[in-house]
Amino acid sequence: MFATYALVSYGIQGFLIVATQGVLTPSGPEDSSSDGFLLRHLVAYARRNLDEDVTMNDTYTRKMDEDYMRHALQLAAQGRGRTAPNPMVGAVIVNNGRIIGKGYHERCGEAHAEVNAFRNATEDVEGACMYVTLEPCSHEGRTPPCADRIIAEKISRVVIGATDPNPLVSGTGIARLRSAGIDVVTGVLADESTLLNEVFMKYILEKEPFVTLKLAMSLDGKIATSTGESQWISCEASRYRVHELRDMSTGILVGVGTVLADDPQLTCRIPGGANPVRIVADSALRTPEDARILHTLDETPTIIATTQRADARKVDRIRERGAQVIVFDDPDGRVPLKALMRQLGSQGIDSILAEGGSTLAASLLAEECVDKVHWFIAPMLIGGEDAKTPLGGRGIERLADAVRLTRMTTDSVGEDILLTGYIERG
Ligand SMILES: NC(=O)c1ccc[n+]([C@@H]2O[C@H](COP(=O)([O-])OP(=O)(O)OC[C@H]3O[C@@H](n4cnc5c(N)ncnc54)[C@H](OP(=O)(O)O)[C@@H]3O)[C@@H](O)[C@H]2O)c1
Repeated sequence: MFATYALVSYGIQGFLIVATQGVLTPSGPEDSSSDGFLLRHLVAYARRNLDEDVTMNDTYTRKMDEDYMRHALQLAAQGRGRTAPNPMVGAVIVNNGRIIGKGYHERCGEAHAEVNAFRNATEDVEGACMYVTLEPCSHEGRTPPCADRIIAEKISRVVIGATDPNPLVSGTGIARLRSAGIDVVTGVLADESTLLNEVFMKYILEKEPFVTLKLAMSLDGKIATSTGESQWISCEASRYRVHELRDMSTGILVGVGTVLADDPQLTCRIPGGANPVRIVADSALRTPEDARILHTLDETPTIIATTQRADARKVDRIRERGAQVIVFDDPDGRVPLKALMRQLGSQGIDSILAEGGSTLAASLLAEECVDKVHWFIAPMLIGGEDAKTPLGGRGIERLADAVRLTRMTTDSVGEDILLTGYIERG
């Protein structure tokens, strides 16, 4: 009777609590009375259902956490192209099932996402839950540590996307929050957060730029005609996409062959977009002094990477005009691309869009400088044995040595197809 009363009055959980706290004590396994039998089965039933409830609660909480984290990730993405070398971070403050504050890191040197979320809060945040896409910082940088601010604001629970690989932070932000008694959950949509910050994740650890190789080819695999004409293989929508990529990149890199063939400006032509730093690999300093990239130096910095093969007087003249000329002492007389990446990284260039051409692209891949590729395929047939293909150089002899790509995705851009993938590391 009492068992039935407990079940009806308090539900399964109430019954189990009552039962296991001794108000109702089931008879031992040896008890064969009908009351003892019933009670044991009710307790087992209640316990099983409680376990299911706990699992359901976990699932519900996880889903809720993921929903708010997705919102925070969308906010974070609004900082794309403006936060380098900092990561993109978003934060959402939730109380009683309502968002009461949100913010993101808008620009390098400005407030972090957490601080902006506090600033934008519409009510008292004490006891609320904060969702933040990346582990809050715990070190004094350009701004005070966000972990301390969260503690000071008396947030009771913090849900974190990815942990920060930055050796100055990694795990210490979480530890600081936990030691202040805050309930911290980590790894919610961590993959999405890591992917969003793929540039930051590489740069902070390796101090070398994240390199995206972009090429546009015809359906028969040509990046230019046999006379070198390549403008334009891709459609207008693809070219707009490329300008978006330029806007998001800190640097843009081409070989001198492209400068000689196309005399490109290498700027971002989206209104309000930012120009990346232009970089040319030019071992013998063949870049013409009247090249367009040397005309707009006051607007957009340009770096020419060369070697001891360069004419010293030309080096001086180009430097006097305001371009940076880096002279490598290379035994082969060719710009050493790995060393160039280290140099660019040390100058704060965290991401590079490499736009070819075919000789440089092959070297970048061979020297393991590329992280990601964007391959536009246009519905066009060019033909011609002398017409360039995306990758020049010497190539490989054994298929086993082929560069492999992973996580490939396809996208339609106007009338073109865009293949995106990541270089598989051994
Ligand atoms: N469809 C597209 O997406 C696309 C994009 C870009 C270009 N293109 C076309 O591609 C053609 C140009 O391609 P390209 O292969 O002739 O020239 P490239 O790849 O732009 O430049 C190659 C040159 O870069 C210099 N370089 C310096 N360091 C290097 C290194 N470590 N490895 C390799 N090269 C290095 C070399 O000249 P030095 O030895 O003198 O330094 C080399 O000859 C043009 O027709 C252009 O229109 C098409």
